[in-house]
Amino acid sequence: MSNIQNIKKRFPIFENRSDLVYLDSTATSLKPKIVIDKIREYYEKYSANVFRGIYPMSEIATTEFEETREVVSKFINANNAREIIFTRNTTESINLLAYSLGRKILEPSDEIVTTIMEHHSNFVPWQVLTNEIGATFKVIDINEDGILNLEFKIKNSELLKKIISKKTKILALTYISNVLGTINPVEEIIAEAKKINPKIIVIVDAAQAVPHLKIDVRKMGADFIVFSSHKMLGPTGVGVLWGKEKFLNEMYPFMYGGDMIDEVYVDRTTFKDTPHKFEAGTPAIGEVIALKEAIKFLEKVDMKNIRKHEKEITDFAIDRAIAKFGEEIKIFGPKNIDDRGGIISFSFGKFHPHDIAQILADSGICVRAGHHCAMPLHTRLKVPATVRASFYIYNDENDVEKLIEGLKKVKKILI
Ligand SMILES: Cc1ncc(COP(=O)(O)O)c(C=O)c1O
Repeated sequence: MSNIQNIKKRFPIFENRSDLVYLDSTATSLKPKIVIDKIREYYEKYSANVFRGIYPMSEIATTEFEETREVVSKFINANNAREIIFTRNTTESINLLAYSLGRKILEPSDEIVTTIMEHHSNFVPWQVLTNEIGATFKVIDINEDGILNLEFKIKNSELLKKIISKKTKILALTYISNVLGTINPVEEIIAEAKKINPKIIVIVDAAQAVPHLKIDVRKMGADFIVFSSHKMLGPTGVGVLWGKEKFLNEMYPFMYGGDMIDEVYVDRTTFKDTPHKFEAGTPAIGEVIALKEAIKFLEKVDMKNIRKHEKEITDFAIDRAIAKFGEEIKIFGPKNIDDRGGIISFSFGKFHPHDIAQILADSGICVRAGHHCAMPLHTRLKVPATVRASFYIYNDENDVEKLIEGLKKVKKILI
């Protein structure tokens, strides 16, 4: 993006930390001023609870809150705002599905299919659920390039037929791997999976996709997608679950209590319709309200520009910058830049990822080291941990140059 300096100016953190090199947006993104201002606006001007009061402050808060639901719905091209449920984060959205949907439909003879590249939050809930019910948990493997072993570019994939069958109740897969950066062709996978089993329910973990790609849930063909506000310039404490209304209507509530009930008697309770049936208790009101500002910001920059920018910077980092270290650096994930997002996980010689991250941190460079909540994937890659650098709209080639300088320093110190 040519106006990157202008974009940076919209993020107050760069004023307070002028030499910040933030390469950890996969963990959480920075926040633009308009998002921070909106939270302040709520607390300073109409800090009331939602759906309860009939006084003006509560009405304003409720209107602002419900406006975010509309904005989110349009952003991902949902059918209507009733399909948007606010949770605390992606993890809670998936656990809600495991509890309210999985427990209802899964029988011991059934299967749940996921992939080896999942974040723990789209792996452990399904593993625990299948263990509890006595059902089968199947995991799709990757090839050496960090691409799902599905021949998914080929229609009528024989491999997919071996994995997905009429017994598969749920396919839960990530859109973009938070480690490999792999962009899975979810649209094709879903179409093929539904050909093999029209009743399969597909859940897409879009935590790393919604902040970076234009998402159209109707085109994608999924039944549910989940994502987090804090990874898309929005506040922490807000997650989104989008689901087809017909499924949401049939599902159990996840939590019980205030605001999600219709009528309560001593011996029975009836519940509200979706989405309120799934939103028990007081939500993160100011944070939900501010999420719509984050979305408006992303829309203004344009998701197509964001993807283009991240592709260019990732290409620069891999091909022209990191490549200078030769075989010392091993980058995991797809070789083809079209198949990956702005995430680069790597190992560097025999240096420990935590030592690398510490030395980079001492130079003001924020990267992540560890298994990034993807232990099965790291076991598959035969490494205990990796270093991860990730890019977003406020990063530019200078950040990559600083990373390279930092890595040179790592080598000097650790050799
Ligand atoms: C692909 C993916 N799924 C799920 C999560 C969990 O997100 P949260 O911590 O917001 O629940 C993450 C977080 O990094 C992620 O990258």
